[in-house]
Amino acid sequence: MSKSSSTSTQSHDPFVMDLQKIREQARKHMSDGPVTQTYGADRQSVLKLLNDALATEIVCTLRYKRHHFMAKGINSEAVAAEFAEHASEEQEHADRFAERIVQLGGEPDFAPESLQTRSHSEYKEGANLTDMIRENLVAERIAIDTYREIIRYLGDNDVTTRRIFEEVLAVEEEHADDMADLLEGRE
Ligand SMILES: [Fe+2]
Ligand SMILES: [Fe+2]
Repeated sequence: MSKSSSTSTQSHDPFVMDLQKIREQARKHMSDGPVTQTYGADRQSVLKLLNDALATEIVCTLRYKRHHFMAKGINSEAVAAEFAEHASEEQEHADRFAERIVQLGGEPDFAPESLQTRSHSEYKEGANLTDMIRENLVAERIAIDTYREIIRYLGDNDVTTRRIFEEVLAVEEEHADDMADLLEGRE
């Protein structure tokens, strides 16, 4: 194999692709939509992890909703508002995961009876405001760790799903930071 025209500034291999082959394959299995021949991940595994993440986001939405309405006591209004904001962001995350599941040819699982068992984080009601904040911080930290693992697993095999998880992860980190700040003033 000779490198024909590589110069000292071009140390990498040139970009080459078989466009003819890509064009032919694009016409096959058209009902798979964006899932093409070069999709590198195991689709069933990705659908499973997306559905578990969907369950996690729904449980987080419900927990923050409950806390929003149950927040009582000193400075509870500001905290309740924060809970409401987080609830709506978790709902957005759920929608993003559901949308991706459908793009990949799967079905989003919204079945209420299995939500708790599939969710990474738990639905904890919390006995008082401080307790609620603590439970939310725990849940965020669980989501952060599981989403990081998923991002590592996806690697370059499904870049779009990975990017969704990366963007969601960044928001969960903000949520954890918000909860940690709230907790600091109370303990
Ligand atoms: Fe979330
Ligand atoms: Fe969150």
